[in-house]
Formats: sequence, C-alpha cells, structure tokens
Amino acid sequence: MEMIREYADWFYLIGAVLFILTLRGLSGPKTAIAGNRYGMIAMAIAVVTTFFVAENPVVWMIIGAMVLGAIVGIARARTVPMTQMPETVALMHSLVGLAAVLIAVAAIIHNNKLIELGPDLLAANGINFHEMSRVHLFELFVGCFVGAITFTASVFAYGKLAAKKWAKTISGAWVKPVQAIIFIAMLGFGVHFFLTGNMTSFWAMTGLALAFGWVWIAPVGGGDMPVVVSLLNSFSGWAAAGIGFTLENNMLIVAGSLVGSSGAILSYIMCKAMNRSIINVLFGGAMGGAAAPTAGAGEQVQRNHRSGSADDAGFLMSNADSVVIVPGYGMAQGRAQNAVKELANLLKEQGVTVRFAIHPVAGRMPGHMNVLLAEADVPYEDILEMDEINSDFPATDVVLVIGANDVVNPAAKDDPTSPIYGMPILEAHKARTIMVIKRSMATGYAGLDNDLFYNDKTMMIFGDAKKVVEDMTKAINGTGH
Ligand code: TAP
Repeated sequence: MEMIREYADWFYLIGAVLFILTLRGLSGPKTAIAGNRYGMIAMAIAVVTTFFVAENPVVWMIIGAMVLGAIVGIARARTVPMTQMPETVALMHSLVGLAAVLIAVAAIIHNNKLIELGPDLLAANGINFHEMSRVHLFELFVGCFVGAITFTASVFAYGKLAAKKWAKTISGAWVKPVQAIIFIAMLGFGVHFFLTGNMTSFWAMTGLALAFGWVWIAPVGGGDMPVVVSLLNSFSGWAAAGIGFTLENNMLIVAGSLVGSSGAILSYIMCKAMNRSIINVLFGGAMGGAAAPTAGAGEQVQRNHRSGSADDAGFLMSNADSVVIVPGYGMAQGRAQNAVKELANLLKEQGVTVRFAIHPVAGRMPGHMNVLLAEADVPYEDILEMDEINSDFPATDVVLVIGANDVVNPAAKDDPTSPIYGMPILEAHKARTIMVIKRSMATGYAGLDNDLFYNDKTMMIFGDAKKVVEDMTKAINGTGH
C-alpha cells in the first residue's frame, strides 16, 4: 500500500500512456479491440492507484458505489442495441457532468466546514488546513459550470435521441436573448464567487449553468444531436480535467484532457464532413427533422426515374466484374447488414470484386456503418474510406447504394445553391451502373432531392433494405451463376 502511494505518479504515468495507446488503437477497426483493452487496463490502474492515494477513504461507500455502478453498467452494455448507442453515450456524459458538479460542491462544503471549525480545533485534531487559493476557486468555478452545462445538455440530448416527450426542440425569437441572459448572469455570479468566495453566488452560478445547458441544446434539431453528443463528450472531458486540478489528481487531468481534445476533434471532423461549422450546428437552428429544408420537393413529382426489380439487379451484379456497395442510414434503419454481407459473399464466390465505400457521416453517428459492417463480420480490407475509393468509381461496373442519400448527392459538387454544396461525397454517379435501394423517392436527413436517382444510369429498387437485399441474393442463387 505504501509502495503504491509512493509511486502513484508513476502508475498514473503508465495509465496516461495506456490511454494514449487506447485512442490510437480506436482509430482503426483492426486495432480497436486492442485499444479497448488498453483503456480497460489504464482505467483499472487509475482506480486502484487513486483508491490507495485517497486520504481517509470511506471504503464501504467507494466499493458500494463501484459495485452498483458495475452492475448497472454491465447490464446496460449487454442489453443496449446498437441503434441506441448514441443516446446511451449521451446519458453517460451526463453522469460525468453531474460527478464534476457534485465533486465541486463537496470540495467547497468541506472547505467551509473546516473554516467553521476554526484553526485551533483543526490544529488540536492534527488537521493540516490551508484556505482555498484563488487558483483553486477558479478550477472549481470552471469545473462546476462546465459540468453543470454538460449534465443538463446531455440529459436533453439523451431525451431527444430516445424520442422522449419531455425533450422538445424549442424555437422562437426569444430563445437567443434568453440564452444570452442566462449565460451572462451565470458568468457574472461565477466571477463574483471567484473573487469573494460567496456561496450564494456559487449556488446561483450552478443553477444558471444547469438551466443554460438545457436552453442551449434544446433548439438544436434531432438530426444534429450526434455532433452535440460528441461536443458534450469533449465538455465532459474538460469538466473532469478541471476537477482533476481540484482533487490534485494528475490522472484525472490527463484523462480529462484526452477526452476533451479527442471529442473536440471528432466534432470538428463531423462538421467538416457535413460542410457545416460548429457554430452553425449549435446556433443555426434545426437541421433535419421537422425543420429540414425541402428544396426540390415540387420537382420530384415531374421528374422521371427508372425502377427495376431485385431480380434484375441481382442478375446485373452477378455479371459484373466489380461492385461497390455504399451503405447509408437506411441500411442501419432496416437492420440489413447481415443480409448485405451474405449478398457480398455470394457475389465474391462468383468472382465479382466487392468492396464497401464508407462516407464519414453516413448514418447518424460517427463510425455507424463501420460498426454495423464489423458486427456482420465484413472483412476490414473490403471496407474503404471515401478518399480511398472515390477515384475507383469510374472503373466500377455497379455501385449498389443501400439506404444512402445525402452522402451520394451530386448537388454537393455541382449545385452552388444547394445547402450541402461543398460537402465531400462518395462519387457514385461516376460508376457505369447505379442501383439504389430505398423505400420511396423521399429525401434523406438534409431534406434534399437527389439527382442521382434521376440519372440515366440509375435503377431504383424500391423496398425495405433487408428484404430487397435478401431478394437479390435469392435471385442470384436462382440463376445458378
Ligand atoms: P440519409 O441522407 O439520411 O438517407 C437515408 C435514406 O435511407 C433515406 O432517403 C431513406 O429513404 C432510406 N431509408 C430509410 N430507411 C430505410 C429502409 N428501412 N430501407 C431502405 N431505405 C431506407 O442517409 P445518409 O446518406 O447515410 O446520410 C447521412 C446524413 O445524416 C447526412 O446528411 C449527414 O450529414 C447526416 N448526419 C450524420 C451524422 C453522422 S455522425 N453520421 C450526424 C449527424 C447528421 P426512404 O425513406 O425512401 O426509404
């Protein structure tokens, strides 16, 4: 025990290095499992070391809380379906935010209690007490308000993603002024607390930060929630780092900073792939859902498209040399990934080169398609990122778009008036033959019509993704190729 205490910083250093290796591992599907393992070891080192470093720990409380947390965590991890992952992550971030607030509150109450006891009593009981420094107050102030915002904003993001009635998107001219007033008041009370240590100001700041988290995120549309969740991930990291300073725990500072910066980088990557700025996502009003723009809705009625059957499509694909499959949100929605894998295997058995093309924001959460394809055991080497595959489309015989829409919309390249102009896309329109599986001519997340569906080379195959893909497989099997 003494040994652990003495070498605590070394253990923390090993933990920090393992956390860095975790992030590195998680950057690719092949190394992700190893990355997860590093993370588990790092977390175990952090928890055990902290346990021994803590002064006078109330052992039963800590163990009790850990056991309870582990039971809930394991039960949830075992039962959560992949489609509910974003909201589960949002809920977990809310807990980090709440923990930051509670730790800040506990640290301040503890400090005030010691002051109340007075220096003589403290000295008589051998308690070595220093009044909180300004720096300490500043850490508490930042950790507490960032944590409080993270808490309520994450609870709202959870409610929105889980389609709870209480998580209603708010809109109106009053929203921005109210946001500004709450924010300025929150900062005002925070600064007052920092300068004077006044507890009323501390409580007011915390209450306003909780309110701000809600009114800040409530106007954001449901479709933008994944970006918000990633940003809140970053916030939860910074809140943890702030509290790390309060608790003088180097591990928490390092881990919090890693979470904070990786979450910020992920939000940036997502915004870039959607050709939007983070300011636009957070303050630009709802995109997707009810408020989505519906440009081109009138045109849909007049424009002609060609539709075909799963049998025709199966026949064409089995006679192709190369097929590229572009999955999108519809594949996730229809839970078609296993059927898609079977179709790909069958085509490969017949000598067709089959690859998957993944757009960074296909679906509704980062890595959505990669996760689903990994779940269906599609080999990693068959899965290519946008930059790796885009130049191959002109030489591709058939591109099979399964429930993807915006990520293959040529308007992003050709139409400067389009809201998604400038967003990088998978250039499926360059393939020799294009097949699109979706249920109707309806728009996707961005609410935009898609020229690809009216292209002379395109065959629309209407129906639920899973059913159509299964029918294609049956058709290919039936031809005896
Ligand atoms: P979308 O543009 O949303 O299109 C999905 C298409 O799938 C829809 O047009 C829909 O058409 C079809 N579909 C839905 N359920 C289906 C089913 N069961 N079977 C067959 N088709 C089905 O998807 P995308 O191309 O993947 O693009 C993703 C969009 O989400 C982008 O605009 C992106 O910016 C946005 N976004 C992504 C993220 C992340 S991190 N991935 C985060 C926020 C926003 P039908 O209704 O006609 O079937």
